[in-house]
Amino acid sequence: MKKTAKAPSNIAFIKYWGKKDPSLNLPMNDSVSMNLSGCSTLTTVEFNSKFKKDRLILAGQEVFDKKLEKVSKHLDLVRKLARKNLRAKVTSKNNFPTGVGIASSASGFAALTLAAVSALGLKLSEKELSVLARLGSGSACRSIPDGFVNWHKGQNSQTSFAESIAPPSYWNLADIVVILQDVEKEISSRDGHALAQTSPYYKTRLSELGTRTKDVEDAIKKKDLEKLGTLIEEEAISLHMVAMTSKPPLFYWKPETLLLMQNLMAWRKEGLPAYFTIDAGPNIHIITEDKYEDKVTRKLKQLGFPKQTITNHPSEGARIVD
Ligand code: DP6
Repeated sequence: MKKTAKAPSNIAFIKYWGKKDPSLNLPMNDSVSMNLSGCSTLTTVEFNSKFKKDRLILAGQEVFDKKLEKVSKHLDLVRKLARKNLRAKVTSKNNFPTGVGIASSASGFAALTLAAVSALGLKLSEKELSVLARLGSGSACRSIPDGFVNWHKGQNSQTSFAESIAPPSYWNLADIVVILQDVEKEISSRDGHALAQTSPYYKTRLSELGTRTKDVEDAIKKKDLEKLGTLIEEEAISLHMVAMTSKPPLFYWKPETLLLMQNLMAWRKEGLPAYFTIDAGPNIHIITEDKYEDKVTRKLKQLGFPKQTITNHPSEGARIVD
């Protein structure tokens, strides 16, 4: 009763920000994302009748804090579905640096869900896996299907899941993650979700999202980088405007974040099509096509201030690897 799963992290082009039901991670809006080849989590779950309690080993270190509590709670959902009351040993590691502000909850809960479900012999559809992963962390539901993904907000828990809209090979996009501050996040995205509704601009954001989401899907379908890039920048600014005007305000950007945004705009004027998106942290994801990747990386080196870069391409979703 032991299985290993690998799941990618994902970058949202249309972001999940604000929950209709926090206990079920039901989002206020649909979101659109791409799975990332260079940032994944590998998780082994072993259920055994001899185990007295759940254990969690992260990057070789046993942890006992809130993280273990969250994992145990998630395993309870799988145990309930399988009607098996067995404790588990969970061993997990990321292939990207932890504590640098790259969220690991998406890849982490997607890999945990698939490994636990398979270890207990449950046969679930992709949709059911996505629903289950969502209950661990909202964005994890988008790391189950392949490639480019839409998370339908749904009406209830059963109808809120993610689906692939194009396979990874559909478009040679690149996401160069630029680490600008290698410290743990100061404000979690969970807190950000909870405060979203306190911004006077949140309603405006939601009213714009229907059209923007359709336009992003259309840009993916047409492989139109300029259209996609313009939309994802608008979208990231909209999320951060809501964050900055929440009560109390949340500032995720650092001076280097704005500096890099301005550099990207200047590079575009020189003919280099590269665009930014930003999650709940100071780091920037540069979205471009793979043919521009080397040039972007060279230019980033010349800037001097980025601490590290991780290059990603579109990836398949969660898989069993043993
Ligand atoms: C800014 O999925 O981390 O990255 O459901 O509370 O675990 P929880 O939140 P989480 O939120 C992600 C927020 C975001 C935008 C996005 O990925 O869509």
